[in-house]
Amino acid sequence: MKKSWRQSLLLFRAAVIFGVGWLFAWPVAGAGELRPVANIFKPLSTPAELGFEVSLLALIVCAAIFIVVAGLLTYAIVKFRARPGDDGKEPPQIYGSNQLEMAWTVIPILIVFVLMLVTARTIADVQNAKLPTDALKVRVVGHQWWWEIHYPDFGVVTANELHIPVSAREQRRPTALNLESADVIHSFWVPQLAGKTDVIPNRANAMWVEPHATGTYLGNCAEYCGTQHAKMMLRVVVESPEEFAKWIASQKAPAPDNATGRAGRDLFMKTACVNCHRVAGTTAAGVFGPDLTRLMTRETIAAGAAPNTPEKLRAWVKDPQTIKPGCLMPDMQLREEEVTQIVAWLMTLK
Ligand code: CUA
Repeated sequence: MKKSWRQSLLLFRAAVIFGVGWLFAWPVAGAGELRPVANIFKPLSTPAELGFEVSLLALIVCAAIFIVVAGLLTYAIVKFRARPGDDGKEPPQIYGSNQLEMAWTVIPILIVFVLMLVTARTIADVQNAKLPTDALKVRVVGHQWWWEIHYPDFGVVTANELHIPVSAREQRRPTALNLESADVIHSFWVPQLAGKTDVIPNRANAMWVEPHATGTYLGNCAEYCGTQHAKMMLRVVVESPEEFAKWIASQKAPAPDNATGRAGRDLFMKTACVNCHRVAGTTAAGVFGPDLTRLMTRETIAAGAAPNTPEKLRAWVKDPQTIKPGCLMPDMQLREEEVTQIVAWLMTLK
Protein backbone atom coordinates (compact mmCIF):
# COMPACT_ATOMS: atom_id res chain seq x y z
CA MET A 1 0.00 0.00 0.00
CA LYS A 2 2.76 2.37 1.06
CA LYS A 3 4.87 1.42 -1.96
CA SER A 4 2.16 2.13 -4.54
CA TRP A 5 1.60 5.54 -2.92
CA ARG A 6 5.29 6.33 -3.34
CA GLN A 7 5.15 5.16 -6.97
CA SER A 8 2.21 7.44 -7.71
CA LEU A 9 4.09 10.34 -6.16
CA LEU A 10 7.09 9.61 -8.41
CA LEU A 11 4.85 9.39 -11.45
CA PHE A 12 3.17 12.67 -10.53
CA ARG A 13 6.54 14.37 -10.14
CA ALA A 14 7.74 13.05 -13.51
CA ALA A 15 4.56 14.40 -15.10
CA VAL A 16 5.08 17.85 -13.55
CA ILE A 17 8.75 18.02 -14.60
CA PHE A 18 7.83 16.93 -18.12
CA GLY A 19 4.98 19.44 -18.32
CA VAL A 20 7.00 22.38 -17.03
CA GLY A 21 10.03 21.48 -19.17
CA TRP A 22 7.80 21.35 -22.19
CA LEU A 23 6.39 24.82 -21.46
CA PHE A 24 9.87 26.30 -21.20
CA ALA A 25 11.00 24.58 -24.38
CA TRP A 26 8.11 26.31 -26.16
CA PRO A 27 9.57 27.62 -29.40
CA VAL A 28 8.82 31.10 -30.66
CA ALA A 29 9.07 32.23 -34.28
CA GLY A 30 8.33 35.44 -36.12
CA ALA A 31 7.70 35.97 -39.83
CA GLY A 32 10.60 35.06 -42.09
CA GLU A 33 12.44 33.22 -39.34
CA LEU A 34 13.34 29.60 -39.01
CA ARG A 35 10.16 27.82 -38.05
CA PRO A 36 10.88 25.31 -35.32
CA VAL A 37 9.90 21.68 -35.70
CA ALA A 38 8.11 21.29 -32.40
CA ASN A 39 5.55 24.06 -32.53
CA ILE A 40 2.48 21.99 -33.26
CA PHE A 41 0.26 24.74 -31.87
CA LYS A 42 0.97 27.11 -34.70
CA PRO A 43 -0.11 25.48 -37.96
CA LEU A 44 0.63 27.65 -41.00
CA SER A 45 -0.72 25.59 -43.89
CA THR A 46 -4.21 24.35 -44.77
CA PRO A 47 -3.79 20.58 -44.06
CA ALA A 48 -1.96 21.37 -40.79
CA GLU A 49 -4.78 23.75 -39.76
CA LEU A 50 -7.42 21.08 -40.39
CA GLY A 51 -5.44 18.54 -38.35
CA PHE A 52 -4.94 21.11 -35.62
CA GLU A 53 -8.70 21.67 -35.29
CA VAL A 54 -9.26 17.96 -34.69
CA SER A 55 -6.46 17.76 -32.13
CA LEU A 56 -7.87 20.82 -30.38
CA LEU A 57 -11.25 19.09 -30.12
CA ALA A 58 -9.60 15.94 -28.74
CA LEU A 59 -7.60 18.06 -26.31
CA ILE A 60 -10.72 19.89 -25.06
CA VAL A 61 -12.65 16.63 -24.62
CA CYS A 62 -9.73 15.05 -22.75
CA ALA A 63 -9.28 18.15 -20.61
CA ALA A 64 -12.99 18.08 -19.65
CA ILE A 65 -12.72 14.38 -18.72
CA PHE A 66 -9.56 15.09 -16.73
CA ILE A 67 -11.19 17.93 -14.81
CA VAL A 68 -14.27 15.84 -13.94
CA VAL A 69 -12.24 12.78 -12.87
CA ALA A 70 -9.56 14.72 -10.99
CA GLY A 71 -12.24 16.89 -9.33
CA LEU A 72 -14.25 13.90 -8.08
CA LEU A 73 -11.05 12.20 -6.94
CA THR A 74 -9.87 15.26 -5.00
CA TYR A 75 -13.32 15.65 -3.46
CA ALA A 76 -13.36 12.00 -2.35
CA ILE A 77 -9.80 12.17 -0.97
CA VAL A 78 -10.53 15.26 1.08
CA LYS A 79 -14.07 14.45 2.19
CA PHE A 80 -13.48 10.81 3.15
CA ARG A 81 -9.94 11.03 4.49
CA ALA A 82 -9.04 9.26 7.74
CA ARG A 83 -9.74 11.43 10.77
CA PRO A 84 -8.59 11.02 14.36
CA GLY A 85 -11.17 8.98 16.25
CA ASP A 86 -12.30 6.94 13.18
CA ASP A 87 -13.30 3.40 14.13
CA GLY A 88 -10.86 1.96 11.52
CA LYS A 89 -13.57 -0.20 9.90
CA GLU A 90 -14.04 -0.39 6.14
CA PRO A 91 -16.96 1.62 4.76
CA PRO A 92 -19.92 -0.35 3.32
CA GLN A 93 -18.85 -2.17 0.14
CA ILE A 94 -21.21 -1.90 -2.84
CA TYR A 95 -21.11 -4.40 -5.71
CA GLY A 96 -22.83 -3.86 -9.02
CA SER A 97 -24.77 -0.78 -10.04
CA ASN A 98 -26.49 -0.97 -13.41
CA GLN A 99 -26.85 2.78 -13.68
CA LEU A 100 -23.15 3.44 -13.01
CA GLU A 101 -21.96 0.70 -15.34
CA MET A 102 -24.25 1.87 -18.12
CA ALA A 103 -22.99 5.44 -17.65
CA TRP A 104 -19.29 4.62 -17.83
CA THR A 105 -19.80 2.33 -20.82
CA VAL A 106 -22.11 4.46 -22.93
CA ILE A 107 -20.55 7.91 -22.38
CA PRO A 108 -17.00 6.89 -23.44
CA ILE A 109 -18.39 5.04 -26.48
CA LEU A 110 -20.23 8.20 -27.54
CA ILE A 111 -17.12 10.36 -27.03
CA VAL A 112 -14.90 7.99 -29.01
CA PHE A 113 -17.53 7.77 -31.74
CA VAL A 114 -17.72 11.56 -32.10
CA LEU A 115 -13.90 11.86 -32.20
CA MET A 116 -13.73 9.07 -34.77
CA LEU A 117 -16.31 10.71 -37.05
CA VAL A 118 -14.64 14.13 -36.88
CA THR A 119 -11.20 12.59 -37.55
CA ALA A 120 -12.48 10.53 -40.49
CA ARG A 121 -14.15 13.58 -42.00
CA THR A 122 -10.98 15.67 -41.69
CA ILE A 123 -8.82 12.94 -43.24
CA ALA A 124 -11.28 12.72 -46.13
CA ASP A 125 -11.30 16.53 -46.50
CA VAL A 126 -7.50 16.61 -46.77
CA GLN A 127 -7.18 13.58 -49.04
CA ASN A 128 -10.02 14.45 -51.41
CA ALA A 129 -9.26 18.17 -51.60
CA LYS A 130 -9.51 19.49 -55.16
CA LEU A 131 -6.33 21.46 -55.80
CA PRO A 132 -6.30 24.23 -58.41
CA THR A 133 -4.96 23.03 -61.76
CA ASP A 134 -1.96 25.35 -61.50
CA ALA A 135 -0.83 23.79 -58.19
CA LEU A 136 2.94 23.32 -58.12
CA LYS A 137 3.94 19.68 -58.66
CA VAL A 138 6.94 18.34 -56.78
CA ARG A 139 8.30 14.80 -56.66
CA VAL A 140 10.19 13.92 -53.49
CA VAL A 141 12.25 10.74 -53.23
CA GLY A 142 13.45 9.59 -49.81
CA HIS A 143 16.95 8.08 -49.65
CA GLN A 144 19.10 6.85 -46.78
CA TRP A 145 19.57 9.67 -45.53
CA TRP A 146 18.55 12.61 -47.68
CA TRP A 147 15.70 13.92 -49.81
CA GLU A 148 15.79 14.13 -53.61
CA ILE A 149 13.53 16.87 -54.94
CA HIS A 150 12.25 17.18 -58.53
CA TYR A 151 10.19 19.91 -60.16
CA PRO A 152 8.97 18.00 -63.23
CA ASP A 153 7.34 21.06 -64.83
CA PHE A 154 10.60 23.02 -64.69
CA GLY A 155 13.23 20.31 -65.14
CA VAL A 156 14.83 21.32 -61.85
CA VAL A 157 16.45 18.85 -59.44
CA THR A 158 17.68 19.67 -55.96
CA ALA A 159 18.06 18.06 -52.55
CA ASN A 160 16.97 18.50 -48.94
CA GLU A 161 15.70 22.07 -49.34
CA LEU A 162 12.29 22.33 -50.90
CA HIS A 163 11.41 25.77 -52.27
CA ILE A 164 7.71 26.48 -52.72
CA PRO A 165 5.58 29.59 -53.17
CA VAL A 166 3.41 31.02 -50.41
CA SER A 167 -0.33 30.62 -50.94
CA ALA A 168 -2.54 33.67 -50.49
CA ARG A 169 -6.19 33.16 -49.48
CA GLU A 170 -7.39 35.08 -52.54
CA GLN A 171 -4.96 33.44 -54.99
CA ARG A 172 -4.21 29.92 -53.86
CA ARG A 173 -0.86 28.37 -54.73
CA PRO A 174 -0.80 24.96 -53.02
CA THR A 175 1.96 22.42 -53.68
CA ALA A 176 1.13 18.82 -54.57
CA LEU A 177 3.80 16.41 -53.38
CA ASN A 178 4.41 12.98 -54.83
CA LEU A 179 6.39 10.90 -52.36
CA GLU A 180 8.55 7.93 -53.32
CA SER A 181 11.37 5.99 -51.71
CA ALA A 182 14.58 4.67 -53.25
CA ASP A 183 15.29 2.20 -50.45
CA VAL A 184 13.43 1.79 -47.14
CA ILE A 185 10.36 3.37 -45.53
CA HIS A 186 10.82 7.03 -44.59
CA SER A 187 8.25 9.57 -43.51
CA PHE A 188 7.87 13.12 -44.79
CA TRP A 189 7.06 15.46 -41.94
CA VAL A 190 7.09 19.23 -41.68
CA PRO A 191 4.88 19.76 -38.60
CA GLN A 192 3.62 23.23 -39.43
CA LEU A 193 2.72 22.35 -43.00
CA ALA A 194 0.88 19.03 -42.74
CA GLY A 195 0.69 15.68 -40.98
CA LYS A 196 3.20 12.91 -41.61
CA THR A 197 3.04 10.88 -44.79
CA ASP A 198 4.98 7.65 -45.09
CA VAL A 199 7.38 7.34 -48.01
CA ILE A 200 7.25 3.72 -49.11
CA PRO A 201 9.36 1.80 -51.67
CA ASN A 202 7.46 0.78 -54.83
CA ARG A 203 4.57 3.05 -54.02
CA ALA A 204 3.78 6.68 -54.72
CA ASN A 205 2.07 8.47 -51.85
CA ALA A 206 0.54 11.88 -52.35
CA MET A 207 0.07 14.82 -50.03
CA TRP A 208 -0.22 18.57 -50.35
CA VAL A 209 0.77 21.65 -48.44
CA GLU A 210 -0.43 25.21 -48.65
CA PRO A 211 1.66 27.52 -46.49
CA HIS A 212 0.20 30.94 -45.61
CA ALA A 213 3.42 32.58 -44.40
CA THR A 214 6.88 32.89 -45.89
CA GLY A 215 9.93 31.61 -44.04
CA THR A 216 11.94 28.44 -43.57
CA TYR A 217 10.04 25.52 -42.11
CA LEU A 218 11.97 22.69 -40.53
CA GLY A 219 11.06 19.07 -40.95
CA ASN A 220 12.56 15.66 -40.47
CA CYS A 221 12.18 12.09 -41.56
CA ALA A 222 9.67 10.67 -39.10
CA GLU A 223 10.13 6.94 -39.60
CA TYR A 224 13.23 5.19 -38.33
CA CYS A 225 15.18 4.32 -41.46
CA GLY A 226 18.68 3.43 -40.26
CA THR A 227 21.75 4.89 -38.57
CA GLN A 228 21.39 8.46 -39.77
CA HIS A 229 17.59 8.71 -39.56
CA ALA A 230 17.92 11.64 -37.12
CA LYS A 231 20.05 13.53 -39.62
CA MET A 232 17.62 13.15 -42.49
CA MET A 233 16.37 16.67 -42.12
CA LEU A 234 14.33 18.73 -44.45
CA ARG A 235 13.90 22.43 -45.02
CA VAL A 236 10.96 23.97 -46.76
CA VAL A 237 11.68 27.49 -47.94
CA VAL A 238 8.39 29.29 -48.54
CA GLU A 239 8.83 32.34 -50.76
CA SER A 240 6.71 34.99 -52.41
CA PRO A 241 5.67 33.98 -55.97
CA GLU A 242 8.29 36.42 -57.41
CA GLU A 243 11.11 35.05 -55.24
CA PHE A 244 10.09 31.50 -56.08
CA ALA A 245 10.13 32.27 -59.83
CA LYS A 246 13.57 33.79 -59.38
CA TRP A 247 14.80 30.72 -57.53
CA ILE A 248 13.50 28.39 -60.29
CA ALA A 249 15.23 30.52 -62.92
CA SER A 250 18.51 30.42 -60.98
CA GLN A 251 18.31 26.62 -60.74
CA LYS A 252 17.75 26.29 -64.49
CA ALA A 253 20.61 28.53 -65.62
CA PRO A 254 23.56 26.63 -67.18
CA ALA A 255 26.36 25.56 -64.82
CA PRO A 256 29.08 28.17 -64.55
CA ASP A 257 32.53 27.28 -65.92
CA ASN A 258 35.35 29.39 -64.64
CA ALA A 259 39.10 29.09 -64.26
CA THR A 260 39.09 28.95 -60.42
CA GLY A 261 37.28 25.67 -60.32
CA ARG A 262 38.59 23.90 -63.39
CA ALA A 263 41.32 21.85 -61.66
CA GLY A 264 38.86 20.69 -59.02
CA ARG A 265 36.25 19.88 -61.64
CA ASP A 266 38.69 17.75 -63.67
CA LEU A 267 39.71 15.93 -60.49
CA PHE A 268 36.05 15.38 -59.53
CA MET A 269 35.33 13.90 -62.95
CA LYS A 270 38.21 11.42 -62.52
CA THR A 271 37.15 10.15 -59.09
CA ALA A 272 34.28 7.88 -58.11
CA CYS A 273 32.29 11.00 -57.08
CA VAL A 274 30.66 10.97 -60.52
CA ASN A 275 29.11 7.55 -59.88
CA CYS A 276 26.81 9.05 -57.26
CA HIS A 277 26.48 12.75 -57.99
CA ARG A 278 25.09 14.65 -60.92
CA VAL A 279 26.28 18.07 -62.02
CA ALA A 280 24.26 19.30 -65.00
CA GLY A 281 26.40 20.20 -68.01
CA THR A 282 29.22 17.81 -67.03
CA THR A 283 29.81 14.09 -67.38
CA ALA A 284 28.88 13.56 -63.72
CA ALA A 285 25.49 11.89 -63.91
CA GLY A 286 25.17 9.72 -60.79
CA VAL A 287 21.80 9.42 -59.12
CA PHE A 288 22.61 7.74 -55.80
CA GLY A 289 23.64 10.97 -54.08
CA PRO A 290 22.30 14.52 -54.17
CA ASP A 291 22.43 16.57 -57.37
CA LEU A 292 25.23 19.11 -56.91
CA THR A 293 24.44 21.41 -59.86
CA ARG A 294 23.44 24.30 -57.56
CA LEU A 295 25.04 23.10 -54.34
CA MET A 296 25.94 26.59 -53.12
CA THR A 297 22.34 27.80 -53.26
CA ARG A 298 21.56 25.52 -50.30
CA GLU A 299 21.86 26.59 -46.69
CA THR A 300 22.95 23.19 -45.43
CA ILE A 301 24.85 20.10 -46.54
CA ALA A 302 24.39 16.44 -45.59
CA ALA A 303 20.58 16.77 -45.32
CA GLY A 304 20.77 19.50 -42.71
CA ALA A 305 23.53 17.84 -40.67
CA ALA A 306 25.86 20.84 -41.15
CA PRO A 307 25.61 24.43 -42.39
CA ASN A 308 26.92 24.97 -45.91
CA THR A 309 30.08 26.84 -44.95
CA PRO A 310 33.51 26.42 -46.64
CA GLU A 311 34.91 24.73 -43.48
CA LYS A 312 32.05 22.25 -43.14
CA LEU A 313 32.06 21.55 -46.87
CA ARG A 314 35.77 20.82 -46.66
CA ALA A 315 35.30 18.54 -43.63
CA TRP A 316 32.50 16.77 -45.49
CA VAL A 317 34.53 16.16 -48.68
CA LYS A 318 37.57 15.10 -46.63
CA ASP A 319 35.65 12.51 -44.61
CA PRO A 320 31.82 12.52 -44.53
CA GLN A 321 31.87 9.95 -41.73
CA THR A 322 33.05 12.59 -39.24
CA ILE A 323 29.85 14.62 -39.76
CA LYS A 324 27.44 11.78 -40.41
CA PRO A 325 28.82 8.45 -39.17
CA GLY A 326 27.46 5.54 -41.17
CA CYS A 327 26.33 7.65 -44.12
CA LEU A 328 26.68 6.08 -47.52
CA MET A 329 29.20 8.62 -48.84
CA PRO A 330 32.63 7.07 -48.30
CA ASP A 331 35.90 8.72 -47.36
CA MET A 332 37.50 9.10 -50.81
CA GLN A 333 41.01 9.17 -49.31
CA LEU A 334 41.81 12.46 -51.05
CA ARG A 335 45.03 14.30 -50.31
CA GLU A 336 44.77 17.75 -48.67
CA GLU A 337 45.43 19.64 -51.93
CA GLU A 338 42.90 17.50 -53.77
CA VAL A 339 40.26 18.35 -51.15
CA THR A 340 41.14 22.05 -51.58
CA GLN A 341 40.72 21.83 -55.37
CA ILE A 342 37.42 19.97 -55.25
CA VAL A 343 35.97 22.30 -52.61
CA ALA A 344 37.09 25.32 -54.66
CA TRP A 345 35.16 23.95 -57.62
CA LEU A 346 32.10 22.97 -55.57
CA MET A 347 31.97 26.54 -54.29
CA THR A 348 31.50 27.81 -57.84
CA LEU A 349 28.27 25.80 -58.20
CA LYS A 350 25.79 28.55 -57.53
CU1 CUA B 1 14.41 8.44 -43.44
CU2 CUA B 1 14.08 8.11 -41.12
